Amino acid sequence: GQDQVTRIVVLPGDGIGPEVTNEAISCLEMLSDHFELGLRFEEHPFGGAGIDAHGDPLPETTLHACRNSDAVFLGAVGGPKWDKAEKRPEVGLLGLRSALGLFANLRPSRVIPGLESFSPLKASIATGADVLVVRELTGGLYFGERTQSDDFASDLCTYSRVEVERIAHVAFQEARRRGSKVTSVDKANVLATSKLWRRIVEEVAAGYPDVTLDHMYVDAAAMALVSAPGRFDVILTENLFGDILSDQLSVIGGSIGLLGSASRGADGPMMFEPIHGSAPDIAGLDIANPAGAIASAAMLLEIGLGLHEHAAMLNNALEQVLLDGARTADLGGDSTCSSFGAQVREKLQERLD
Ligand code: NAI
Ligand code: MG
Repeated sequence: GQDQVTRIVVLPGDGIGPEVTNEAISCLEMLSDHFELGLRFEEHPFGGAGIDAHGDPLPETTLHACRNSDAVFLGAVGGPKWDKAEKRPEVGLLGLRSALGLFANLRPSRVIPGLESFSPLKASIATGADVLVVRELTGGLYFGERTQSDDFASDLCTYSRVEVERIAHVAFQEARRRGSKVTSVDKANVLATSKLWRRIVEEVAAGYPDVTLDHMYVDAAAMALVSAPGRFDVILTENLFGDILSDQLSVIGGSIGLLGSASRGADGPMMFEPIHGSAPDIAGLDIANPAGAIASAAMLLEIGLGLHEHAAMLNNALEQVLLDGARTADLGGDSTCSSFGAQVREKLQERLD
């Protein structure tokens, strides 16, 4: 439509957050300018930067801007500098996720064709691995009632129909986008919550006859992820299993600096962020890998805004730069954060010319 504006709230955060965010947003600005996508970027302090500016990791103005945005892009937050703060930077992150009602976390992980040598897995096993973990974020053990005494402790695991249905829909929709299948991971041979999970996932699957569904126990899935990762497309799983499996998967591509993620709620803005933290050990040195932030920016275009072709252009440019041999320190090279980002934009420009 005419004069249509898409409001993107940018939260660089602290540590390497601002460095990688700067490279990613520059790529989006370039695409928006060229194709007149109408993306408008608004930066707000968050995490350590929020504490420094307003004494609060999630200042009221930042939260308000996020709530009223079309998408949120986050760098990273956290670090020893704010260990003694009344509210640590990570408290702001939890608060923001909860305020936006984010219940689904999407973490893609892949071995880029031609870059199998990055993977800790043998090339014969790593080849073709391309997996999306869809993790439920608001239920299960992490949010159940807890008891603790000197000699006894308990954590309650609960799931409701509504919680399972809505995350299952997200997984099937993503499988449709990727054109393949869902593997639902549970422990239905033991857990009541998993039995409910499996039954409801089957029901939701009936509405997606074009997507294949299979089920796997979590212990078997853990083995298959390192022995035959190519068998998976979308993994749908609950909170605790998803936490563990998505971290396990994050290493198959070679560096956590390469990976992006998305989180979504029922409605309202989605949030996009690289999976890595604020890496205080390398902050300010211009050596962080911006690839995960750039991949998150591509997810913002694809999942957040439905701009498939523009997302593909950005992903292709990023991959081509890696295939050409550019490497930041985490991958054993000497590219800087800013030179790597500039190379991605040069590749993009070649495609725009
Ligand atoms: P981290 O991901 O920040 O760093 C782990 C290791 O990976 C470090 O050696 C770091 O230098 C390296 N690394 C991370 N990202 C990199 C990149 N893009 N390029 C090159 N190397 C990279 O995890 P860590 O050290 O456990 O946490 C540091 C802080 O970040 C903590 O305060 C933690 O709470 C916070 N954190 C924040 C997250 C977020 O903002 N979403 C997620 C995870 C941790
Ligand atoms: Mg984790």
